[in-house]
Amino acid sequence: MMNHQKKCNIKILKNGPYLVTGNVPLSEKIIVSKGKINVLMDGRILPQAEEYALCRCGKSKKAPFCDNSHEKTGFNGAEKASRETYEDRAELTEGPDLYLLDDNRCAFTRFCHREHGKVWDLTENSHNPIYREEAITAASECPTGRLVAYDKSGKAIEPEYEPSIEILQDPEKQASGPISVKGNIPIESSDGYVYELRNRVALCRCGKSRNTPFCDATHISINYADS
Ligand code: FES
Repeated sequence: MMNHQKKCNIKILKNGPYLVTGNVPLSEKIIVSKGKINVLMDGRILPQAEEYALCRCGKSKKAPFCDNSHEKTGFNGAEKASRETYEDRAELTEGPDLYLLDDNRCAFTRFCHREHGKVWDLTENSHNPIYREEAITAASECPTGRLVAYDKSGKAIEPEYEPSIEILQDPEKQASGPISVKGNIPIESSDGYVYELRNRVALCRCGKSRNTPFCDATHISINYADS
């Protein structure tokens, strides 16, 4: 796994796509609500390749892949996100048996909502083992990495992911969602800076995020549709 991880990379091209190398598995997932919670269902089968370019401008006719439309439309892909570490940016919620960090990078995928409430309330009531478990699930399933649950010894509770990329679709919000990057794949800025390695992160592909390269849920307000 380590060798595979080492070879994986996402390079952000200036005013262009995300260039993914290292045979990273690519799939499409659809966000579907089931009662009060959300789950991911399999979507279209996407082609696999050692190297591929994912559209970042929102204008490709071959999404999720780049078709060079960014050149015709004069896409401005300037990266605006803070480069401070997650822990420096995040706010702490302290529950009786769980900590929660939250950096507020929201893709509005709603995995923080569970059967018994939202992740923040569940954390505050984590003396109840059912709520504690639900808080951990709610935090861990957020594709943006916005939420991380920590046990009382301060150890992060993270799902184990192999490096992979999921193209999210959000039909209930009439939008195509972000690129969910899992498993600590390095993401390199167009200026060469390597972003903090994270197990989960959501990259913008509608071209309109105010926190590029990361998703800020703008795809919903603009009803971004990739096809
Ligand atoms: S980044 Fe190339 S078409 Fe969108």
